[in-house]
Amino acid sequence: MSKPVTVARDGNVAVITLDNPPVNALSFHLRKPLNEALETLRDDADVAAIVIACAGRTFIAGADITEFGKPMQHPSLPDLIATLETIDKPTVAAIHGTALGGGLELALGCHFRVADRKARLGLPEVKLGLLPGAGGTQRLPRLVGPQKALEMVVSGRPIGAGEAHEAGLVDALADDDLVGEAVALARAEAASGAPMVQVRAREDKLAAARADIGAFDAAVAQATRKARGLEAPLACAQSVRNALTMPFDEALAKEREYFARLVSGDQSKAQRHLFFAEREAAKVPGIGKEVRPRPVARVGVVGAGTMGGGIAMAFANGGLPVTLLERDREALDRGLATIEKNYAASVRRGSLDEDGKAARLGRLSGTTDYAGLADCDLVIEAVFEDMAVKEEVFGRLDAVVKPGAVLATNTSYLDVDAIAATTGRPQDVIGLHFFSPANVMRLLEIVRGARTAPDVVATALSLAKTIGKVPVVVGVCHGFVGNRMLSARSAENEALLLEGATPQQIDKAFTDFGWPMGPFQMGDLAGLDIGWRNRKALGKTAPVADALCELGCFGQKTGKGFYLYADGSRTPQPDPEVTRLIEDKARAAGVERRSICDEEIVERTLYPMINEGARILEEGIAARPSDIDIVWVNGYGFPIGKGGPMFWAEQLRGLDTIVARLAHWHGETGRAVFEPAPLLKRAAASGGGFAGEARKGAA
Ligand code: 3HC
Ligand code: NAI
Repeated sequence: MSKPVTVARDGNVAVITLDNPPVNALSFHLRKPLNEALETLRDDADVAAIVIACAGRTFIAGADITEFGKPMQHPSLPDLIATLETIDKPTVAAIHGTALGGGLELALGCHFRVADRKARLGLPEVKLGLLPGAGGTQRLPRLVGPQKALEMVVSGRPIGAGEAHEAGLVDALADDDLVGEAVALARAEAASGAPMVQVRAREDKLAAARADIGAFDAAVAQATRKARGLEAPLACAQSVRNALTMPFDEALAKEREYFARLVSGDQSKAQRHLFFAEREAAKVPGIGKEVRPRPVARVGVVGAGTMGGGIAMAFANGGLPVTLLERDREALDRGLATIEKNYAASVRRGSLDEDGKAARLGRLSGTTDYAGLADCDLVIEAVFEDMAVKEEVFGRLDAVVKPGAVLATNTSYLDVDAIAATTGRPQDVIGLHFFSPANVMRLLEIVRGARTAPDVVATALSLAKTIGKVPVVVGVCHGFVGNRMLSARSAENEALLLEGATPQQIDKAFTDFGWPMGPFQMGDLAGLDIGWRNRKALGKTAPVADALCELGCFGQKTGKGFYLYADGSRTPQPDPEVTRLIEDKARAAGVERRSICDEEIVERTLYPMINEGARILEEGIAARPSDIDIVWVNGYGFPIGKGGPMFWAEQLRGLDTIVARLAHWHGETGRAVFEPAPLLKRAAASGGGFAGEARKGAA
C-alpha cells in the first residue's frame, strides 16, 4: 500500500500529496498524518507556502462515509481544517476530478483553490441525509454568495470548474500542469508578502443578503419546497442562513450540532444505506471484472411509443447513435415528433440548450425496415405487451441483426426465457426493463434469463453506466422485482376503498409516508385504461377502477377518474359521484363500510409488498434485499429517507412486527398476499435479517 500522505519540496513550496484510493476519502488514516504534516510545515521556516494535491483519479471525494456512526478518531475533520486554516503562509488546494463534501470543505480551509478545467466541486451531503459538517455551510457562502451556496448545499449538485471560477470558489483554472500552476500561485503569493486572508474572514458577499433577509428567506422557501419530509434539506438551508445572522464560530458550532443530530438519525442511515446499496447492486455474482462487455457503438429500438421514444432519448443523451423502427411511416413520424417536442420542452425549461438538442436529435434516425437494424450492437424491443407481437419482432430481429448483437426486451411482465427461446440465439437475449419516462427515471431492471450469457449481462451493466442509469440485475418471473411487488399491493388499494376509505384518504396516507403521489392520483395520471387492459388480459378485476373505465373515466386525460379535473386542470378534486360508486360497489359485494385509519392503510399496502420481497429473495430473483430497495427508490419513488421497503421493514419497523401484523391481516382477510413468507419468518426469528437469510439460501 502506498503512503497516504507524502511531502515533497519544490523550492520553498511544500507539496503535500494525498493518496487514499479509490477516491481519497478523508479517513482517519489520512487525517492523522495530514494534520501532522501541516503542523510540521507550519513550523518550518524554510517553507514559504503549501500546496495540497491528490494522487489517483480524483481530489478528495469527502469524509469517509463508512466512519459515520462509529466513535470519532481524532483529529476530526473540523480540527484538521482548523489546523490548515490558521497556517499563516499561503495554502493552495490543487483540485482534479471531484472535490466533494469534506474534500471541498478542506479546500475551503486553504487560502486559494486552483482547479483542473474538467474538475467538479460540490457539497453533496444532503444526498446522504446530512449537511456539510466541516464548515461548508459557512465558508462556501463567503466565496460564492449565500444564494448560490444555498442552491448548491440544498440540492447537493456539484458545479463545473468554469462555473466555480466565475462564482469565486476557484481562483485559477489549470490546463495540464495542475500542481505546477498551484505551486506557481503559492510561490507568487508568498513572494508578494501580502497578508493572507482566511475564507472565514471574507464577509463582503454576505452584505446584500444580510440587508434583505426576507429575500433570502424567499429563496430558502423555494429551495426547500420539495423536501417532502426530509430533514437534511431544511438543516442545510438553516445553516446557510445562520451565516447571515450569527458570528462565524457560533454558526459553525450550530452546523456541527445539526450534523451530529442528522448523522445519528434514521433518515441519514437510510440514505447512507442507499449510497452503498447502489454501488453493491452493480456487483453481480458471477460477473467479475474478467467478463468483458461487448462493444456497443449503435443501438436500435423497436417501437417508438411511450417507452421506445424514452429509451431512444436515454441512449441519445448518453452519446450513442440510435435507430428507431416502427410499423409504418405514420407511427414513426409520430414517435420522432414526440421526441423532438420533449427536447424542445427541455430547452424551454432551460435544462438543455439548442446545441444540445441538435446534437441529440442528430443521433436519432428512423426506419420501417428491419434491414436498418442489421448493424446495431444492441436492439431493444418496446412494442405492445403481447407475446405474439414480441415473438414476431424477435423472429425478425434474429433474421437480420448481426451475430453477437444483444437483443433486449422492455417487457413489463412477459417471460424473458420464452422470448429468448423464439430466437436461435437465446444467449444474446436479455430483459432491459426501463421505467416511464425512460429518459428520466434512473432505474434499469436487467432481467437475466436462464440462458443469458455473462458478457451480455456485463454489457447491460456497462451501458447502464454510460446512460446514467442505476442497474439492478434480477431473475425471470412475472413482473420481475418491481411490478411483482406492486401487484401484491394493488388489490388491497381497491379492498380498502370498498371497506370504507376514500381515494383521497389513501393517497394522503401515501404522501404522508413520503411517496411523491398516492396510487389513485398516479392511476389518474398514467391513465386508468392501461391497468384495465392489463386486467382484462389477465382475467383480473378491480370493481371500482373497472366501473370507472366502463364509464369512460380514464383519469386526467378525460377530466374524470378517481378524481375530478376541472377544465383541463391537473389538480385532483374529490368527486362525490366516485364516493357513491364506491358505496354501490361495496353494497353489491356485501362489504360493510367502516372508518379506516392511516396505519391500517400503511400496513395493508406496504406489508404485502415486503412479504413479496421476501419471496423474491427466497427464489433468488433478487440477489440481496438492498437490490430490492434500489428498485423501489429509483423506479417507484419509495421515500429515500426510509431507505427502501426492505430496509424500512428491517431497520425502522422491525421484522417481528411485520410478521405479526401480516398474520393478523391474513386471519382477517384470508388473502394469500398476507400469509407471512417463510424467509420473512426465518429472518425475523433468527435475528439475521433478510440479508442473512438470503445468503444462506444462496450458499
Ligand atoms: N466514503 C467512503 N467510501 C466512498 C466515498 C466516501 N466518501 N465515496 C466513494 N466511496 C467508495 C464507494 O463506496 C466505492 O466503493 P466500492 O468500490 O467498494 O463499491 C468506491 O469508493 C468508488 O466509488 P464509486 O463507485 O461511486 O466511483 P465513481 O468513480 O463512480 O464516483 C464519486 C466517484 C463521484 C466520488 C462518488 O463515489 C461519490 O459521489 N462519492 C460520495 C461523495 C460524497 O457524498 N461526499 C460527501 C461525503 S459526506 C461528508 O463529506 C461529510 C462532511 O461534510 C463532514
Ligand atoms: P405504446 O403503445 O406506447 O408503444 C408501443 C409502440 O410499439 C407503438 O408505437 C406501436 O406502433 C409499436 N409497435 C407495435 N407493434 C410493432 C411492431 N410489430 N413493430 C414495430 N413497432 C410496433 O406502449 P409502451 O407503453 O411504450 O409499452 C411498450 C412496452 O414497454 C410494453 O412491453 C410495456 O409493457 C413495456 N413497458 C411499459 C411501461 C409504461 O409505463 N408504459 C413501463 C415499462 C415497460
